Amino acid sequence: MFVLISYSILILLELIFAISLCIYTLSLFWSSIMGSPYVPTKKKELINFLKEARIKKGQIFLELGCGDGRVVKTAVKEYAAKGIGIDINPTLIFWAKFIAKLTKVSGIEFKVQNIFKTDVSKADFIYLFLMPKLLEKLKTKFEEESKKNAVIISHGFKILGWEKYNYKTIVNKPFPTYYYKLRS
Ligand SMILES: C[S@@+](CC[C@H](N)C(=O)[O-])C[C@H]1O[C@@H](n2cnc3c(N)ncnc32)[C@H](O)[C@@H]1O
Repeated sequence: MFVLISYSILILLELIFAISLCIYTLSLFWSSIMGSPYVPTKKKELINFLKEARIKKGQIFLELGCGDGRVVKTAVKEYAAKGIGIDINPTLIFWAKFIAKLTKVSGIEFKVQNIFKTDVSKADFIYLFLMPKLLEKLKTKFEEESKKNAVIISHGFKILGWEKYNYKTIVNKPFPTYYYKLRS
């Protein structure tokens, strides 16, 4: 009897593991087809580029395609920003909320949402680590909707055509970081 129960529990655990793995793999596929695969920013790099951003207490830091939320979480924890994290992938948003709770970082609004449907008009900082094709499609949205003095930080890829708005670049391999200000 004991062996039978142990065996059943083992099969159940294996089943849960296999289903979780399937959900995670499908969600990564979903991220890719919606515009950008999930690749997290390196912790050392984010500490460096957030320091350069000069975020002040209470300013709104919006991370579009936030993944596990590590960048927005650091902006809130280290600079007392108001944080918003948006991602199309529900598994990553679930994980971001879980980690924020576990590490006792409160006050971040994490939402499952498409970037194109996100209100960017109140953000003081908009952080992006997205594929160039997606950045290209988002340009008009930022040009029309972002507020005066908003800083747009693009990690990894420059935003083509925005050379005149680029006021700072951190040269780093493989991923540089570009800072843009459209209106000041
Ligand atoms: C390269 S990852 C960056 C993750 C995180 N920002 C970081 O730096 O660690 C890109 C993220 O964008 C998300 N994404 C892709 N297309 C999206 C869309 N249309 N709307 C919202 N999020 C999207 C993906 O799910 C993925 O988590």
